[in-house]
Order: sequence, then C-alpha cells, then structure tokens
Amino acid sequence: MGLDANSRLLDFGCGIGRVAKALIERYRCSVVGIDISAQMRELAVGYVNSDRFAVREPEDLDRMIEEGFRATGAYACWVLQHCLAPRQDIRRIRSALVPGALFFVLNSTKRCVPTDRGWGTDGNAIEELLAEEFEQISRTGVSHLVRSEIIAREAYAMLLRARPSIAGDPSSGSAM
Ligand SMILES: C[S@@+](CC[C@H](N)C(=O)[O-])C[C@H]1O[C@@H](n2cnc3c(N)ncnc32)[C@H](O)[C@@H]1O
Repeated sequence: MGLDANSRLLDFGCGIGRVAKALIERYRCSVVGIDISAQMRELAVGYVNSDRFAVREPEDLDRMIEEGFRATGAYACWVLQHCLAPRQDIRRIRSALVPGALFFVLNSTKRCVPTDRGWGTDGNAIEELLAEEFEQISRTGVSHLVRSEIIAREAYAMLLRARPSIAGDPSSGSAM
C-alpha cells in the first residue's frame, strides 16, 4: 500500500489495535481505529499507546466523514465476515477514503454472524458488496489456523481501490 509517515489509515474493526500498533511502529503512519465494541476501543487505546492512534465508534466515523475526514488508505482484518450490515459498513469505509485510495481486506470466505441456529451465514456475499464500491486489484486465497488445523483457502486477502467519486452521490466527497 506504499505506507509512510504521511499515510492516514482507517483500521475498520480494529479490535485491540494489533495491526495498527505494528504499522505505526514500522511506518510512523497515523491510524484511526473503528470498532463497534466499547471494550475493544478501550483496550486499543492502552495497547497501541501512541499519539498517532485514535479510536472511534462507527457512528463517529459518519460524523467525521461529514466534517471532511478522509483517510489515504484502509484495512479490515477478520471483520467483514462478522458485520451485521455489511453493505452499510463497506459504503462507510469507501466514503471515508480519498478517491483511488487502497483498501486491504483479510476475510473468511464464510459469513459468521449470529442466526437463530447459532453462528452462521445470513446470505450476504461480501465480495459482491465490495465490488459495488471498490475495484479489485488482487485476490489471494489464504490458509489459516482453526483449532490447530490448517484450513486451506477458507479465507482471502484482497487489495481493492476505492472507486472514483460518483456524481450526485453525497457519500463520495472530495479529499481534504
Ligand atoms: C476478529 S476481531 C479482529 C480484530 C482486528 N482487526 C485484528 O485483526 O486483530 C473483529 C473485530 O471487529 C469488530 N466489529 C464487528 N462488527 C463491526 C462493525 N460493524 N463495525 C466495526 N467493528 C466491528 C469487533 O468488535 C472485533 O473487535
């Protein structure tokens, strides 16, 4: 993603800030973490422990976008599979980016949301939703560990580019 100290990143579903902390240490970039969980947001402040990191809830991000905030890049690691309203969240992420900015996604191929039969799928196709807002640059199948077993190609890493502003679309504002 060509990161450096001028990069202003959005970490969507930051959790405790595991990735943000590493990126700040390596690139001196700044990161705004977004997480729906108050507990995760609180843990992230302590764990990342950097003046280059801020953490907010998703509704705050909407207000920041309205006020003109735009990130130069974004990533979402192990998050979109869990989002209850993924179309809204993917649009939210795109709206927070300068046109043409890169978005890195690491995601399970299977949805994992609460259903009336336990954790399962709700039929949302994340890759199709991503294609509405982003152009795909690359996609790689990823093997990962589940209960100590390597599960092959149950996940993917994807690099995407925010589609250019759409005329008449209030969410596709200009860069700051
Ligand atoms: C599996 S954790 C991954 C955390 C982090 N990205 C990492 O890789 O260490 C998923 C995180 O996404 C957050 N999350 C789930 N749905 C979300 C949503 N709609 N908006 C923002 N955060 C969300 C959860 O609270 C949780 O912290």
